[in-house]
Amino acid sequence: MDLDMNNIPQHVAIILDGNGRWAKEHGKPRFIGHREGAKNIATVAKAASELGIKALSIYCFSTENWKRPEAEVNYLMTMPVRYYKKYRQKIIDSGYQIRFSGRRNVVPKSLLNVMDDAMLSTKDNKGLILNICFDYGSYEEITTAFKKIATDIKNNIIDISDITPELIESNLYTKGLPKLDLLIRTSGEQRISNFLLWQLAYAELYFTDTSWPDFHKEELEKAIYDFQHRNRRFGGLKEAK
Ligand code: IPE
Ligand code: IPE
Ligand code: MG
Repeated sequence: MDLDMNNIPQHVAIILDGNGRWAKEHGKPRFIGHREGAKNIATVAKAASELGIKALSIYCFSTENWKRPEAEVNYLMTMPVRYYKKYRQKIIDSGYQIRFSGRRNVVPKSLLNVMDDAMLSTKDNKGLILNICFDYGSYEEITTAFKKIATDIKNNIIDISDITPELIESNLYTKGLPKLDLLIRTSGEQRISNFLLWQLAYAELYFTDTSWPDFHKEELEKAIYDFQHRNRRFGGLKEAK
């Protein structure tokens, strides 16, 4: 694909959807779809890194996904622990800096432990920032930011007049990441499902029917190609390309 390497989005977010449907199409139980989906995160992170993307945010478990059957939720809480233990050294050596976005007080301790290990062991890495959004929901993220800011005002640490978009941003999980350029959702749904509501303000949106386990480097390149042919005006005026 003929990509303009000077116009690669800095921050790409993906709603990885369709693991369950992919499994069904292959006559397999849903958990196999989740297992393939987890493996595909490594494939797509490698592709993103090769393309020069700086940050990749991946939506892996939402604050609403707890509504699913207990066995599926249990699998989604335990499979990443096994996966991480198996590939720990490979992940550290990849050069990615792993971050997490989401609530920490509901996720089981065994998973939090590996999340902390991944974060700490890769914090000095200089490669792709892989931001794993787990037990993430924008309502929760923004509510938490409101509470923190209100507490700081109450304790006279800041004044109401100090509230700016930058201050709000610095209280979100995505603090310090480049501005979101491109959101991809796989598997045909065209909705946001409580993902990065604030950060999406001027991101380009890309929807594909491909299910997540089948979304590989070529699909990512297609999304970037599409992104590069958008006319981003940010409210201003720009000559059509
Ligand atoms: C995405 O795949 C993974 C999670 C939301 C955990 P789904 O599990 O939503 O797959 P579908 O949408 O049922 O096919
Ligand atoms: C969004 O997918 C959440 C994640 C990908 C983690 P869902 O499959 O949960 O979204 P809905 O229910 O179709 O909106
Ligand atoms: Mg889904």
